[in-house]
Amino acid sequence: MGKITAAITGIQGWVPEDVLTNKDFEKMVDTTEEWIMTRTGIKERHIQKGKGKATSDMAVEAVIGLLKKTNTKPEEVELLICATVTPDMIHPATANIISDKAGIKNAFSFDMNAACSGFLFALVTASKFIEAGGYKKIIVVGADKMSSITDYTDRTTCVLFGDAAGAVMLEPSTEGYGILDSSTHADGSGRIYLHQKAGGSLKPASHETVDAHEHFIYQEGQAVFKFAVTRMADVAAEIMERNQLASDDIAYLVPHQANMRIIDATARRMGINKDKVMINIERYGNTTNATIPMCLYEWENKLKKGDNLILAAFGGGFTWGSIYLKWAYEAK
Ligand code: UT7
Repeated sequence: MGKITAAITGIQGWVPEDVLTNKDFEKMVDTTEEWIMTRTGIKERHIQKGKGKATSDMAVEAVIGLLKKTNTKPEEVELLICATVTPDMIHPATANIISDKAGIKNAFSFDMNAACSGFLFALVTASKFIEAGGYKKIIVVGADKMSSITDYTDRTTCVLFGDAAGAVMLEPSTEGYGILDSSTHADGSGRIYLHQKAGGSLKPASHETVDAHEHFIYQEGQAVFKFAVTRMADVAAEIMERNQLASDDIAYLVPHQANMRIIDATARRMGINKDKVMINIERYGNTTNATIPMCLYEWENKLKKGDNLILAAFGGGFTWGSIYLKWAYEAK
């Protein structure tokens, strides 16, 4: 029997119906459709509306769809990891809420907080449970209601983010499919450039923190951009070199969708043409933990068994990483 690797055997994405376009932002803040498009590549983003609606509700849509699609009974799932920066509540974990709402009774579950690299880190973590033996069905969800932490009076951040969820099923393969290599990194000194100031133990919520808009995303865009552009390209190139992969060997680059210019720079560094890069930033914006699974979901029908994919992410923390993955199936 070959070495056990963790293969993605199903994928499902979900976005809410409501859309905010660049034109809508022209009415809300001092911006232009042209600025947003040329600086970010974003045209519109989906926003979850409705009282009582939270990240777990989007995630549950993706998870229930995934269970159906993969013919999996909820009780067969052994572990569910939810990557999110917008948990329903600070605690308990949103993963537990998702499992409860989806009828997943026999799994343990926890959240992964690694900002925009969270889905990638969660995939790596889940793959280790499979590789160690014993685990047969793990769900990894990336979900964020970014609109809940977006300051719609701050033009420098509000145009960037959207809401979405994506979920994958991971199962063991002994035929060499799935996650074959990964490189994951963090540098906490980067926290000064991208964070949420209040609501944690450092600065609990108060009238002052609310008045000062400190429960929203704070980002020094240019500083983050400089790190993102080099780190994401470096780590993707490192994975290619380590596995002796030439650009022709790669079917698709699956990058985190934060800025079209960062995606372009990563593809250029890897020598990969744009037609081999999964890009949907124009329709969803930056959905944080949902960008990579949403790309895989939308490209699922084009993927062939044995395709080599490179996943790459960069996010707050700072966190960044890359995965080399061999696609395990052809969609029916
Ligand atoms: O997802 C994980 C990590 N996050 C990222 O990877 C994001 C990385 N950063 C970025 O993508 C880019 O830095 C942004 C898209 C956030 C900003 O683009 P930029 O080209 O770096 O713009 P900038 O921050 O240098 O701002 C340039 C100018 C400024 O005006 P002045 O100071 O030159 O007069 C900003 O005030 O553009 C202004 N500006 C805007 N103008 C119109 C900033 N936001 C807007 C806006 N509309 N929405």
